Amino acid sequence: MAVTGVILFLFVVGHLAGNLKIFEGPAAFNAYAEGLRTVGAPFVGRGWFLWIARVVLIVAVLAHIWAAILTTRAGWRARPVSYRRLEAVETTYAARTMRWGGVLIALYVIYHLLDFTFGRVNPSFIPGDVYHNVVASLRVWPVAAAYIAAMVVLGLHLYHGTWSALQTLGLNRPPTGRWRRGAAAGIAVLIAGAYISIPVAVLAGILR
Ligand code: HEM
Repeated sequence: MAVTGVILFLFVVGHLAGNLKIFEGPAAFNAYAEGLRTVGAPFVGRGWFLWIARVVLIVAVLAHIWAAILTTRAGWRARPVSYRRLEAVETTYAARTMRWGGVLIALYVIYHLLDFTFGRVNPSFIPGDVYHNVVASLRVWPVAAAYIAAMVVLGLHLYHGTWSALQTLGLNRPPTGRWRRGAAAGIAVLIAGAYISIPVAVLAGILR
């Protein structure tokens, strides 16, 4: 769970860094997207870098889901008879919603691919004009609202995921244990907030 989570986390951070280039304007953003397709092109052909990244991502997503199923089953086996009344003591909202959060993020990514990669649900998709595609989609406020809601779910998932992964990696003991929750919260708020700035900027007319 932790190792595949770290791979997906690195993608989320890398994708965010790339997406923030949208604030540099259409030319810079489209050049960045085109750059991703042409990394290493003179040696091995256009798009190979993207395909390697896609294969790593797909394997990481499948392994992450598989690990989630194994963890869930282990949890159920440890408590085969459910509690009559369950009071949450040592847990958080983020921790209790990890499974549903994961499902919602997966549904979001499917919609997102149909929107910006395949253009099927985008109001006016122009292949290669990535800036235009993002603005055209997020200008529709229900779509922007759904993106913002998905980023909040992502933030909650990242919060518990980071907190949990630090434990798996043994960073839950003093002195690092003390700042574990704060660090996880800070990272989650920073990432979700930075993603949310994009639909907000489109709705506010800053990106047009
Ligand atoms: C406001 C938030 C986001 C924006 C504006 C955005 C924008 C984009 C754009 C424009 C593309 C297509 C790039 C291209 O064709 O060159 C893309 C692809 C993609 N995005 Fe996002 N994204 C956002 C959030 C996310 C999040 C949170 C995730 C994951 C949890 C994600 C996962 C992906 C994936 C998997 C692809 C496909 C990459 C590929 O195979 O080419 N995105 N995104």
